[in-house]
Order: sequence, then structure tokens, then C-alpha cells
Amino acid sequence: MPHALTRRQHLQKMWLTQVVRGCAAKRLMTRRTRKLCGLDNEQLTSTTQQLSSCYHPSSSTSYSNRVPSPLGNSRSPILLSRSSLSTKMPQLSDEKAKFTAPDGLSTKYRVEEVHRYMVDCMTAVGTPQAHAAALADVLVAADRRGHYSHGLNRLEMYVNDVKQKVCDGNAEPTITKESVSTALVNGNNGLGPVVGNFCMDLAIKKAKETGIGWVCTRGSNHYGIAGWYSMRATKEGLLGMSVTNTSPLVAPTRAKKAALGTNPISVSAPGKDGDDFVLDMATCVVAVGKIEVERRKNKPIPEGWAIDKDGQITTDATEGMQGALMPLGGPELHSGYKGYGLGMLVEVFCGIMSGGQYGPNVRKWMNTDREADLGQAFMALDPSFFAPGFEDRMSDLMNHCRNMEPADASKPVLVAGDPERQHINKVEQDGGITYHINQINDSWKLAKALGIKPME
Ligand SMILES: NC(=O)c1ccc[n+]([C@@H]2O[C@H](COP(=O)([O-])OP(=O)(O)OC[C@H]3O[C@@H](n4cnc5c(N)ncnc54)[C@H](O)[C@@H]3O)[C@@H](O)[C@H]2O)c1
Repeated sequence: MPHALTRRQHLQKMWLTQVVRGCAAKRLMTRRTRKLCGLDNEQLTSTTQQLSSCYHPSSSTSYSNRVPSPLGNSRSPILLSRSSLSTKMPQLSDEKAKFTAPDGLSTKYRVEEVHRYMVDCMTAVGTPQAHAAALADVLVAADRRGHYSHGLNRLEMYVNDVKQKVCDGNAEPTITKESVSTALVNGNNGLGPVVGNFCMDLAIKKAKETGIGWVCTRGSNHYGIAGWYSMRATKEGLLGMSVTNTSPLVAPTRAKKAALGTNPISVSAPGKDGDDFVLDMATCVVAVGKIEVERRKNKPIPEGWAIDKDGQITTDATEGMQGALMPLGGPELHSGYKGYGLGMLVEVFCGIMSGGQYGPNVRKWMNTDREADLGQAFMALDPSFFAPGFEDRMSDLMNHCRNMEPADASKPVLVAGDPERQHINKVEQDGGITYHINQINDSWKLAKALGIKPME
């Protein structure tokens, strides 16, 4: 017979029962959680073992239940989702830690080889070849364009999401409702690029028929560089726009904490002979990936990119990741509220329009406790429905700007899309993409953890 429990022990037991049922893993007991329960590691292990003996995997516990803390309403409830079960799987980071990359790995790789490696990583966790290739197309494009934060650097996140079944690598999007020029899509929790390509292709089709196509989706995942989708329309001679919401990382002007994502906006417009205007920008000072890249290199970040957890501007990349990013413009004095407004605008078209998650409701960055349910929007506009000569005027304006006398002779005036074009040319001249050695060592370990061929 069990001995009588104190009220505190009873509460601990009830709460742990629910946690163990919902999560089936003591791993989920964070240090903070243990503290709240007044348990040390040993107590936790023995309590979990005792409780496991009465745990039935077939139990019909609702995983979406909010489990109250034993400390009552003063603490946040813990959200247990269906996908919490995925924490039973070995973590990729643990698997990677078993390997040490050899010295002297090359830092330059052919574009096709990087693509092959990415596809192999994704298929190794069960993604169909075509979906893996769609993702690799976007990630390789990011690296070729010089946006290293959104290429190879981001691959492990997608691998993890699919491995942990928090994103469905097999899923195909479906149309929920549509008119001649609009559609609402459900991404069905598929890979972001699979959903994004589907939506933009639908918007392009509608734009060719009616002049404009506007497609919103919910149920999507991280889709990579927003420019990939706007450029897809521009390749067809159309103006393209794409926006996505993302995990809350950006603090509204005057706030200490994040409430909005880095919510990128991309608008592309065709110029003459493929010389296109491609604006592709986060609505914060820099995308979080750029801070991650600096952290990977153990380098400081410039002042004005991020605030620390106390709301103070920081130059420490790790502190910046723990605090919040600043909206485009930075502090209020530098009109940061305009970037804040643009971030809200993205949400109007994404989470709010599509009925997906929005703002602070989007799951936390790199969390895999539940589906992302991101909102995204894609617009295609046919300029031939308006005044003739769009491409001529577009090129004329871009060339006017480029030909202006620069303030610094060594830095010619550019237009949006030029820095990326220059980077693509450099990759072509170099015969491959050059990465930081830390990135290469990390990718080597990921290959070993997944049992696939590293990049050669
Ligand atoms: N999917 C996501 O969750 C997500 C979130 C944030 C950012 N992103 C992506 O990250 C990438 C990087 O975003 P970013 O804001 O750091 O980009 P960035 O600041 O490097 O560039 C933003 C834009 O400014 C243009 N530009 C740069 N220098 C210029 C100059 N001197 N003159 C004229 N134009 C110039 C670029 O061509 C680009 O269009 C983008 O592709 C974006 O879509 C994705």
C-alpha cells in the first residue's frame, strides 16, 4: 500500500502523471519545472519510474490539454501537444555530438553537391525526393545569393522538424476556398517551400487570367527566403510579392519582449532582359539567422541589431538571441516604429488573413512542441493589365539610380537585387559556394548522424 502523501507530494504526483502521460519523457522536465515541483534529478527519476509503471500508451489523454501547474494559476500552464510525443526520438544534436569532424575539410563546394547533400539529408528522415528537392532549391538559392543565414545553416532545422514529425514532409497543400483571383490554401503542415511553390504557382495562374492573383495560406512551415517566391512570378514577367509570419523574435517599439516575427517582405518587378528589381528583406534590422551566423563564428554583433533580456541594446550575439531583435530602423529615435508597423502589416496578410497563428501566438523559435501553422501570402500582378512599357520604365529607373555619382567612389549605388546578383556571379567565378569552416564541420557531423555521404 502506498504511504500517505502530503498535499505537495500529491500535487506533484498528479502533475507528473499528466506530464508523463502527455510527453512520455522525463526529458521534458526542464530545470525550471523541477524547481517548481521541488524535485531534484534523483527524485524526478524515481517518481517518473513509479509513474511509468501505471502509464498506458493507449491512454486517451488529450495531448492538446493544458496541464495546470501544481503551483496554481500564478504559473503559466504547459501546453502539451500531440507532437510532444516526438521528444521520445533521439535528438539530432545528441547524435551529432558523437562525431568529430576531421581537420582540413574543404570550405568550397559545387552548387550541385550542396543540393545533393541537402536532398540526401531530407530523404534520410523520410521526405519524398520531390519535396526534398523543392526545399534544397530554396536553400541553395539563399546561399548562392549570399544569404547564408537561410541556406545550409538552416537545413538542420527542417531535418529536425520532419524527423520529430512536427512538420509533415509528405503533405501536399489543398485549396480551402477560391475565387477567380484569390485563394485560401491549407498547407496541411507541409514543408514551407512545397506550400510556397504551390501558392505562388496558383497566384501566377490567376494573375495571367485576371491580372492579379492573391493567395493566402495557413498550416505552413518556414519557407526560406521570401524572394524565392516573388522571383518565381517575375520569371513569368509578373510582379511578385510574398510575405510570411515567423516566430516572435522582434520587440515592438517601447517593448522589452518580442511579440512579432522577423516577418520578411519580398517584392520583385521585371526589368528588361532579366534585370529585375528584387527587394527581399526582413522587417527587423537583421534576420535572426545573421545573428546566429555571428554566434557560430564567435563574433560580436553591431549595436542596434538586438536587445538583451532586460531590453538593453547588446553587441553579444548570444545575449541578442536570448533577448529580442529590434524592428527595422532600430530604436524609436531612428523610426524603429516604421519597421514595427511593417511587421504588423505582414501579419495582416499572413496569420490574421489566413486564420493561422499570428504574432505572439506563433510557436517559439526552434521549438518543436507543436505544429508551426504559419501564415503566408503570395501575390502576382500582371503589368500588361496596366500601362504598356513597364519593363522599360523599370530598367530606366534602376539604371538611373545605379549611374548616380556615389558618395564614396569605391561604393557604387545599387538597387535591390544587385548585391545578390553580384554574389551569384562570384559563386559562378569561384566554381562553388564558400562556407565558414564551422558550418562545414557541423554539416559533416549532420551527415554522419543521418548516415549519409558528407559533402565532397
Ligand atoms: N522565412 C523567414 O522566416 C525569414 C525571416 C527573415 C528573413 N528571411 C530572409 O532572409 C534574407 C535576408 O534578409 P535581410 O533583411 O537580412 O536582407 P538584407 O538586409 O541583406 O537585404 C535586404 C534587401 O536590400 C537590398 N540591398 C542590400 N544592400 C543594398 C544597397 N546597398 N542598395 C540597395 N539595395 C540593397 C537587397 O538586395 C535586399 O533586397 C531574405 O532573403 C529574407 O527573405 C526569411
